[in-house]
Amino acid sequence: FGIFSLVLFLSIIGVTAFAFNHHPAGGMETIDPEKLEQTAPFDHPGVHQIDEDTYEVVIVAKTFGYDPPEIKVPAGKKIIFKVASADVSHSFSIVNTNVNMMVIPGQINTKEYTFDKPGQYLVICNEYCGTGHHFMKTSIEVI
Ligand code: CUA
Repeated sequence: FGIFSLVLFLSIIGVTAFAFNHHPAGGMETIDPEKLEQTAPFDHPGVHQIDEDTYEVVIVAKTFGYDPPEIKVPAGKKIIFKVASADVSHSFSIVNTNVNMMVIPGQINTKEYTFDKPGQYLVICNEYCGTGHHFMKTSIEVI
């Protein structure tokens, strides 16, 4: 009876997960990590101005760093961060802000942020990604 209950339980979970799309990528934009760096916009990582008040920053996270290595954006403008991983799970976390994104291979993560003050902002990887994890960081210069 124990085994029967277990099988029944797992079947119910499996069926409902499919029926309601309860997998981690549900509702998110997806991308093939192996083709990431050939796929727009990730084939051109960097800061792109969209209009007078909006900038998009396209970032590729990969072991153990971020591409582009330098990010410079203006204060007081809407910055749309678009991040994807070229290999394993990382994060893109801007210290002292509410930008703290998991970067899971196969998914595109987007977050809007406006920097109020110019300065140097530290970006770190919060997700253990291998031996170089602790060195995975970059900074954003807000001008
Ligand atoms: Cu990338 Cu930790």
